[in-house]
Amino acid sequence: MKILVINGPNLNLLGTRESDIYGTMTLEDINASMQKLAKELKVKLAIHQSNHEGDIVDLIQNAKGHDAIVINPAAYTHTSVAIRDAIAAVEVPTVEIHLSNIYKREEFRHKSLISAVAHGQISGFGPEGYLLGLRAAVSIAHAKKGNS
Ligand code: DQA
Repeated sequence: MKILVINGPNLNLLGTRESDIYGTMTLEDINASMQKLAKELKVKLAIHQSNHEGDIVDLIQNAKGHDAIVINPAAYTHTSVAIRDAIAAVEVPTVEIHLSNIYKREEFRHKSLISAVAHGQISGFGPEGYLLGLRAAVSIAHAKKGNS
């Protein structure tokens, strides 16, 4: 089983970026904790980060061989029809992750263009959200495989 993990803009700055909101773990730390869990769950991860909307669309379009997507679209959550449409097009089950609770923050963050095409959303659990998201993605993918 293969899971595609996508991190959007500015998440490469985790660790130093607004640490009162996003914590002090770096993206490398988060990726390492995901790889550890992936080993336990016996799944393979392809992990990417991009600051560019079109690159994220390309990654999603090429997700066909994967069983699920775990994505933190970051700021594009609130603006990107292109990322939403790409997720809808590929029909690969998708889990949306946010480190912070976007509903507790500025009003412009309350709207996710992604959530309507995602299987579900995990928001507000910090780096733990990636592990919860991976568990959810694997469970959804297993259920889908069992049904096909
Ligand atoms: C974020 C929340 C977004 O509103 C923000 O633009 C981010 C990170 C989160 O993980 O909490 O860059 O997706």
